[in-house]
Amino acid sequence: MSQIAPSILAADFNRLGSQIRELEENDVRILHIDVMDGMFVPSISFGMPVISSIRKESKLFFDVHLMVKEPMRYIEEFVKDGADSITIHVEACEDVRATLQKVKEQGIQCGITLNPETPVEAVVPYLEMVDMVLVMSVHPGFGGQKLIPETLKKVEYLAGLREDQNLGFKIEIDGGVNHKNLGEVVSLGVDIVVAGTAVFRGDITENMKIVKEVMADAS
Ligand code: DX5
Ligand code: ZN
Repeated sequence: MSQIAPSILAADFNRLGSQIRELEENDVRILHIDVMDGMFVPSISFGMPVISSIRKESKLFFDVHLMVKEPMRYIEEFVKDGADSITIHVEACEDVRATLQKVKEQGIQCGITLNPETPVEAVVPYLEMVDMVLVMSVHPGFGGQKLIPETLKKVEYLAGLREDQNLGFKIEIDGGVNHKNLGEVVSLGVDIVVAGTAVFRGDITENMKIVKEVMADAS
């Protein structure tokens, strides 16, 4: 069955600790952490101090999505601060393989991701070495956007390739997933669904109830 990974980009940072506890009480296991550098994407979100602070309070799996140019520079630091998995953009690295290798050497999981306009073929050379492929279903940089339907074809393609070649990577999707399209997304073979707005806007517990119901029905 698929899992939900709430993105704290949509959290109320004034109440971040208690909102994470509420997620834990609602059986969430993975926290999606969006780091933006103002270079690879236009906006800046948050970085190391936020991650190390919440690490002290939470045992959730920290799925760190680096929207950062040349993320190689920061991998050791993010691991020290508590990342359980680091996902890098194929467009952001001069040497993608070396960057993934660096993540693996730290003994944590590694993921690769691609922007909506990047052809899926760009990640194919790395499928054997990654734990996860993150399909960006919106342009990275902001929460609350609409899912771009064409990106779902990448999910189907990757799911097919995984089966044909007997590979073990997980497929994650990120951006614009709401209570309405969640069922369709899950039925395509997505293992981890990132959701910011759909979890944090309004009542977290109510949202999680809907999410769990839809996910159980669709898988
Ligand atoms: C976009 C981020 C997403 C974003 C998702 O750059 O990578 O994780 O927070 O937000 P929603 O679910 O609101 O589209
Ligand atoms: Zn993300």
